[in-house]
Amino acid sequence: MGRFEGKVIVITGGGAGLGRLCALRWAAEGASVVVTDVVEQRAHVLAALINDEGGKAIGLKADVSVEAEVEAAVAAAVAKYGRLDIMFANAGKAPAGMGTIALEDITSDEWDDVNDVVYRGVFYAGKHACRQMKTQPEGGNIVVTVSAGGHNAYPGFGPYCAGKAGAVGIVRSMAYDWGRYGIRVNGLSPTHGMSVNFPLPPETPALGMSYEEAALAESGATWDPFTMFPGPLKVNRPPSLEDNANVATFLASDDSAYMSGIVIQSCDGGSFSRTSIPIPENWSLEDEA
Ligand SMILES: NC(=O)c1ccc[n+]([C@@H]2O[C@H](COP(=O)([O-])OP(=O)(O)OC[C@H]3O[C@@H](n4cnc5c(N)ncnc54)[C@H](O)[C@@H]3O)[C@@H](O)[C@H]2O)c1
Repeated sequence: MGRFEGKVIVITGGGAGLGRLCALRWAAEGASVVVTDVVEQRAHVLAALINDEGGKAIGLKADVSVEAEVEAAVAAAVAKYGRLDIMFANAGKAPAGMGTIALEDITSDEWDDVNDVVYRGVFYAGKHACRQMKTQPEGGNIVVTVSAGGHNAYPGFGPYCAGKAGAVGIVRSMAYDWGRYGIRVNGLSPTHGMSVNFPLPPETPALGMSYEEAALAESGATWDPFTMFPGPLKVNRPPSLEDNANVATFLASDDSAYMSGIVIQSCDGGSFSRTSIPIPENWSLEDEA
């Protein structure tokens, strides 16, 4: 029996990357999944794949920056499957210029373009999930994909980092305010091992690979964690979407049943253990002796 047997799940930004992988995994473990994405075709293709593999899914267009579309996605889940157990508020997009626009030159429209998705979109997903879940005696579970950018700066990503930090705040507020309804809310902040589709145009097929795996595949090189990976933790394979999906799955499942208001820095490779003091990567205790 799968961990998600009988569970009804809505996933935002489910057509590619982390959302897509979680949809596949959770459907394989018994969930009925409503795959939503701003790129409608991606949602339909994935729902068809899940159904072809014997799972249960429907695909819908939902742009998380449009409240009515998020509300409609929850309504569709309830109409088709009768309830909503898990909302995976995962959709996100990169800021205009992908880090090339100086923060002091960002326009209001550019600020809103990304924050309507990574900040406001999380609120809409939580809001409409709550309105359904609070009618259910069992409550529900909301999981939010934040980002390392919600805790530390990514160069040139100021508007995105602000929105992701805001998402951490929303996770805590939703957890606090909705705990009374039996709704728990947690987040994960991927650092490494994330989707190479993220900086690519929406018409790109879902590649299902991390940046690190894609770079390796393109170069044909052999993975060397000492020269290729910036995190202190050295592991003999590149970080992958699976590493982040494992944490999302933990949060979405009953394995985390008594957790709420927590944001886990998933797949960080030890990055957050390190200060910016410029100690060389090859420093060793033996050199000091
Ligand atoms: N890839 C990264 O560099 C990275 C790193 C840390 C965190 N994240 C976060 O992880 C989450 C998942 O991203 P991913 O890495 O899987 O990237 P991805 O681009 O592969 O998948 C994101 C999906 O969200 C969809 N989307 C974009 N805007 C949307 C909107 N307005 N409404 C609904 N769907 C929308 C895209 O079409 C895409 O299918 C996002 O919240 C992202 O901010 C990504």
